[in-house]
Amino acid sequence: MDFNEVITKRYSCRDYVDKKISEEELNKLLMAANLAPTAVNYQPFKVLVIENEDILNKLKEGTKYTFNAKNILCVIHNVNESWHRYYDKKDFGTFDSAIVTTHIVLEATNLGLATCIVCSMKEEVIKEILNIGDEYIVDSLITVGYPAESGSHNKRKDLNEIVEYYR
Ligand SMILES: Cc1cc2nc3c(=O)[nH]c(=O)nc-3n(C[C@H](O)[C@H](O)[C@H](O)COP(=O)(O)O)c2cc1C
Repeated sequence: MDFNEVITKRYSCRDYVDKKISEEELNKLLMAANLAPTAVNYQPFKVLVIENEDILNKLKEGTKYTFNAKNILCVIHNVNESWHRYYDKKDFGTFDSAIVTTHIVLEATNLGLATCIVCSMKEEVIKEILNIGDEYIVDSLITVGYPAESGSHNKRKDLNEIVEYYR
């Protein structure tokens, strides 16, 4: 798919077909994640692949937004491995994870799959369910699957509302 088509077609899908994505598709998503740039190339993130039915169901205790997807990816970062800006100690791990998340959702769109980025979650509950250590921050859940609907992205602001020129 042409890149412009990919970014135009990506939308947040909240209704999936009752079927797991293929191993080949999953691997392509993980390769796209791995190619994401990270600050200082520290690569502080992990992608957790959740396909187990019991765990998928349990995740509902931590978020309302699983949409019964058969595949959920969880992007986390280790605060001891991420880049903290020297001047103010700001942790850029969540920024890294956001780019990883973007690579995944765009590659999924490229493959004809649909996704939704989900951050509305009880982080501590998700950590407990997935057995994630204290040194990690849970940055996103990504529901992935074959869309059961034909959706399109929400309306955006006009360019003149989001751009300021310093020419
Ligand atoms: C950081 C972030 C967090 C989000 N969290 C949720 C969420 O918890 N639940 C949900 O249904 N959608 C969530 N979304 C999806 C947004 O609602 C969606 O991207 C936005 O409404 C624009 O729609 P579109 O993706 O279809 O263009 C999230 C998106 C982002 C980028």
